[in-house]
Amino acid sequence: MDIATIGVVGGGQMGSGIAHVAAASGISVTLVDVEPRLIDKARAAIDKNLDREVGKGKRTAEDKAAALSRLSTTTRLEDLAKADAVVEAIVENEAAKRELFSRLDAIARPGAIFASNTSSISITRLAAATKRPDAFIGMHFMNPVPVMQLVEVIRGIATSDSTAAAVEALAKRMGKTPILCNDYPGFVSNRVLMPMINEAVETLREGVATREAIDGIMKLGMNHPMGPLTLADFIGLDTCLAILRVLHDGFGDPKYRPSPLLVRMVDAGWLGKKSGKGFYEYPAA
Ligand SMILES: NC(=O)c1ccc[n+]([C@@H]2O[C@H](COP(=O)([O-])OP(=O)(O)OC[C@H]3O[C@@H](n4cnc5c(N)ncnc54)[C@H](O)[C@@H]3O)[C@@H](O)[C@H]2O)c1
Repeated sequence: MDIATIGVVGGGQMGSGIAHVAAASGISVTLVDVEPRLIDKARAAIDKNLDREVGKGKRTAEDKAAALSRLSTTTRLEDLAKADAVVEAIVENEAAKRELFSRLDAIARPGAIFASNTSSISITRLAAATKRPDAFIGMHFMNPVPVMQLVEVIRGIATSDSTAAAVEALAKRMGKTPILCNDYPGFVSNRVLMPMINEAVETLREGVATREAIDGIMKLGMNHPMGPLTLADFIGLDTCLAILRVLHDGFGDPKYRPSPLLVRMVDAGWLGKKSGKGFYEYPAA
């Protein structure tokens, strides 16, 4: 199945990036958010990020205009009735996602593919909120979407081969590299990444080293582009905690127990870069 038109639901950090890259790759995109104010914010972010690419010589001004001409925005889910596929990027909340997919199931045409950009929620459980679990898949883009190469493609228990093939082709068309895995808690990316971040937090809590030393050792010693505490701040400490809880609950293994320091920081509202304070301080932009 060739995907020529997509809907993107949720115009935040991830959804606006997905809409940007899809529209720039020649795909017609309808971006949905709940309020006109949020739509305007998403459009402004896409405009700014396309300008940045033009500034870097990655695209021409004509490419930017063509991309924007392929992007429409709306607050009405009903406007996705004709889409070949819908990529969901709303809040990381299972009840909200299930409610959305069940509504979409009644709106989207039969055969349209549903993809969730969830970082950690079970694809199989989300698929069960629809009558099309064979056409349901995880399409886990990385942040920032225009820059990062990977799309982790997650097959639920019922995902069909044709759905997986169509979504792999879509990711490639968007200039990304899709890599397939199966639906288990944390998939591959967060199952491997989050225990490392959690251990870095425990290392800090126990006073083994300062934040700078922990990040410096992992950055220079392991050739990581940034240390785990900085990365946690960028992801959001609330998001890290939520994913660790999914791993802890999903496997029932104490090795995934969230660090008490991480819990305390989230309780305090220290959520990382987005709140101005996490393991480091971030002056308001
Ligand atoms: N931020 C990351 O680094 C990252 C990376 C990979 C995946 N994800 C996942 O992507 C998803 C979105 O994350 P984000 O960081 O873009 O969040 P965000 O808070 O920036 O954006 C979420 C957007 O969804 C909108 N929204 C909420 N409910 C909606 C609904 N019912 N219909 C339409 N729009 C709705 C909100 O208004 C908001 O604009 C989450 O599932 C998250 O786990 C995030």
